[in-house]
Amino acid sequence: MNPGKAGLVFHEPLLFELGGQNKRGVELPEMDLPIISDEELLGGNLRQSPNLPELSEPEVVRHFTRLSQWNYSLDGGFYPLGSCTMKYNPKMAEVAANLDGFAQAHPYAPHGSNQGLKRLLFELQNDLAEISGMDTVCLHPAAGSHGELLGLMLIRAYHNHRGDSARTQILIPDSAHGTNPSSASICHLDAITLPSGPDGLIDLNTLDQMMNEKIAGIMITNPNTCGLFEERIKEVCDLVHARGGLVYLDGANMNAMVGVTRPGDFGADVLHFNTHKTFATPHGGGGPGAGPVGVKAILEPFLPKPVLVERNGKVEWNNDRPRSIGKVRSFYGNVGVLIRAWTYIRSLGPKGLRQMTLNAVTNANYLKALLEDHFEVPFKQHRAMHEVLLTDKRQKENHVSTLDLAKGLIEAGYHPPTIYFPLVVEGAMLIEPTETESKETLDQFAQTLIELGKKGHDELAALPKTAAVGRVDEVLANRKPILRWEA
Ligand SMILES: Cc1ncc(COP(=O)(O)O)c(C=O)c1O
Repeated sequence: MNPGKAGLVFHEPLLFELGGQNKRGVELPEMDLPIISDEELLGGNLRQSPNLPELSEPEVVRHFTRLSQWNYSLDGGFYPLGSCTMKYNPKMAEVAANLDGFAQAHPYAPHGSNQGLKRLLFELQNDLAEISGMDTVCLHPAAGSHGELLGLMLIRAYHNHRGDSARTQILIPDSAHGTNPSSASICHLDAITLPSGPDGLIDLNTLDQMMNEKIAGIMITNPNTCGLFEERIKEVCDLVHARGGLVYLDGANMNAMVGVTRPGDFGADVLHFNTHKTFATPHGGGGPGAGPVGVKAILEPFLPKPVLVERNGKVEWNNDRPRSIGKVRSFYGNVGVLIRAWTYIRSLGPKGLRQMTLNAVTNANYLKALLEDHFEVPFKQHRAMHEVLLTDKRQKENHVSTLDLAKGLIEAGYHPPTIYFPLVVEGAMLIEPTETESKETLDQFAQTLIELGKKGHDELAALPKTAAVGRVDEVLANRKPILRWEA
């Protein structure tokens, strides 16, 4: 066991500690050229020795293989991370994205070429528009949060074009994901917090009081991050529109709506999809992901360029967009991720996509039914959507916290749910099983959580014991993160 800095406790030795003197992974042949000294070769540029460990080839291979196994993955186990939705990535989509014609396509290929890929992207655009009830979709953004930024830029461009540049504020419910206010701030919009009502939903009277001529619009997550469907969503959208604002829909939770309801039908003007949450693509840590943005016709002229259009049976990029806000991403977005989303959508078809949603909601409500006698369920009067929200209120009486339960789940071999989010609910555990999990997995998970909830604080405080990393001092790790190994 190795007590590291920032409270990190590694339960296994790391590479740097395994290194020995003069161990070699390769045997190079004798040099048959004149030997130039490091000093002659590099002169004053010679760095001090980086002090790298010396290891044999098998030791290096085992080290990296072991590191890869420390990574918890969906291919390895249940990953019920609420709000972040870790969806199983079907292997068929990997095969499709790696087909030579797609994987080797070059963004500078001549006009008129790559018709197969362009048609796929065009179809994906249209499928996403159909699924969401929007008029058109832009595939460029590289993540959901990037889609948020683009959506807000479009809202600003719309108001400015109409000469309504006083609208510099955006309403965001207090249960929203942190990326919503950050996107607003990057877009030079002031984020104004809209307090939720006691039932966890948007309160129409409060909204009515807060809407004024400075408000550019509202960012709504539906179902919201408490896993509740905004039942008055149509009235909310109507009210915002009546006062000159636009409605941004954070589509992170589309997994509870696909094939059942469409944001475009209940009043959204612009939304983003998180392809990893809904269409089973890899997440990409906000990096090589995708966050397509759907818009109603009023925002279409402002979309980033180029846009894909079909002319005379051919699909081509169109840069002739005088009112476009410009570009938000090099080339055309993360095409490999978009191919995976297209594959998922086309392999399920309309009926399969609807069933996906129904299964996701059923799985969450099944877990809720298993757990509600043992844990506090806030806003119990509403049915859960695709994720179930619990708190540690009852276990707190026994000095057991949400954090203890999460660490206990790691010890039991699970990825913990999202904890202490949404911020509006104390001691929150947000559990999202997704549609692919079996009844047996859900039963076992619920049983494990129930048993952990009955344990005492001292027993849980020592966990995890067998995971690669033990308890972290969360405050130190946050305030003084150590991002590289120090012997
Ligand atoms: C509700 C909500 N909105 C936005 C985002 C941001 O999405 P992304 O991680 O793709 O940037 C997330 C991410 O988990 C989310 O849960």
